[in-house]
Amino acid sequence: MRRSCLLGPMVAIPISSRAQAITDSITLAISARASEMKAAGQDVISLGAGEPDFSTPPDVAEAGIEAIRSGKTRYTPARGLPEVRAAAVHWFKTQFGLEYSKENIMTTAGAKPALVMAMMALVNKGDRVLLPAPYWPSYPEMVRLADGEPIDLPALPENNFICSAEQIDQAVAEHGAKGIVINFPNNPSGAVPSREEVAAIVDSAARNNLWIISDEIYAQLIYDGLEHVSPASIPGGQERVLIVNGATKSHSMTGWRVGFLAGPEEIVDAAGRIQSQAIGNPCTISQNAVMKVCYQDDPAEVRRRLKSFDERRQYLMRTINEIDGLSLNLPKGAFYALVDVRKICQQRGIDDVAFAEKLLVDGLVATVPGSAFAIPGFIRLSYAASMQDLEGAIERIDRFVQA
Ligand SMILES: Cc1ncc(COP(=O)(O)O)c(C=O)c1O
Repeated sequence: MRRSCLLGPMVAIPISSRAQAITDSITLAISARASEMKAAGQDVISLGAGEPDFSTPPDVAEAGIEAIRSGKTRYTPARGLPEVRAAAVHWFKTQFGLEYSKENIMTTAGAKPALVMAMMALVNKGDRVLLPAPYWPSYPEMVRLADGEPIDLPALPENNFICSAEQIDQAVAEHGAKGIVINFPNNPSGAVPSREEVAAIVDSAARNNLWIISDEIYAQLIYDGLEHVSPASIPGGQERVLIVNGATKSHSMTGWRVGFLAGPEEIVDAAGRIQSQAIGNPCTISQNAVMKVCYQDDPAEVRRRLKSFDERRQYLMRTINEIDGLSLNLPKGAFYALVDVRKICQQRGIDDVAFAEKLLVDGLVATVPGSAFAIPGFIRLSYAASMQDLEGAIERIDRFVQA
């Protein structure tokens, strides 16, 4: 049915087909539902949202406050303040070993707008874009916003959720795709590929002349001493890779709305033209605050947070795998646990959406069904929550599963 906005008895303004094709963020919708239940007096534990329970580090927050005090509250260039782009050059070099110049980087209002601007700059009407599953639910919507067509690559639990070069080659042969969006550490699986696995993806992209959008927003949240490998660090990668990154997750800057897009100058410049018309500049105060993060060469604060996330990760690994019918592969990065609930779904004749729904209504634990990430039969728990909440949630999940 065509949606429209009714202004009066005779005037109905139709909503554009573009807007009709876009759905709301499911993770935000679940968080909103859990909040409503809480507001109605129900004791819900919410493991739905991907938002760290820590605050923004005080020195970073102070840099924002100082920006306001000193009057740094005016428009900036649309691609961001030159000193912030220079700070980002330093950050990409010191934290990830990537060589960029200011012209390769623009500041954005978070990772999400960076992804949208990148897609707008790259995708032509009808272009097919490969999305290896499981993936963040916003990707297909963003491809549609840019008038492209998302193509799912099936998830490979047996391959630790990392797409193979053969899969990409085959999908390009079948669909004639122009680009691919990858996200490691992965939301929702926590997958972190080895250098060889990333190199295989880059080689396939080069063979098939694909651009790569690499969403690296969890790059600093990796466990067990594993390294983050950006496809831009692989020989032949940098010229076809657009990196999306920032301090949103590592420094709890979720509400500041600031991030970075880095890549070939011409593409970043095109994305900047779009940004200049769509939003103007990212928040001036937040740009000044994120500069503080960029010059923290020793990320002690991130290490401290990571230690805490790791304790929660280990706790979930132990307890979930002890619950009969559930299983969890060790997440290697980010702060999500993708739990295999296929056995229980099969026993009860339900799917993961019904499982998550019942767990919320009957068990009072909010999670996200795997179908939202193109991985049916799983549910995603965010462990960016307190230990107390996690302990309570595990008790309830155990009870729900055994019932
Ligand atoms: C994979 C992924 N990319 C991007 C984002 C959005 O980040 P930001 O808040 O910086 O827009 C999220 C947030 O959950 C995410 O999980």
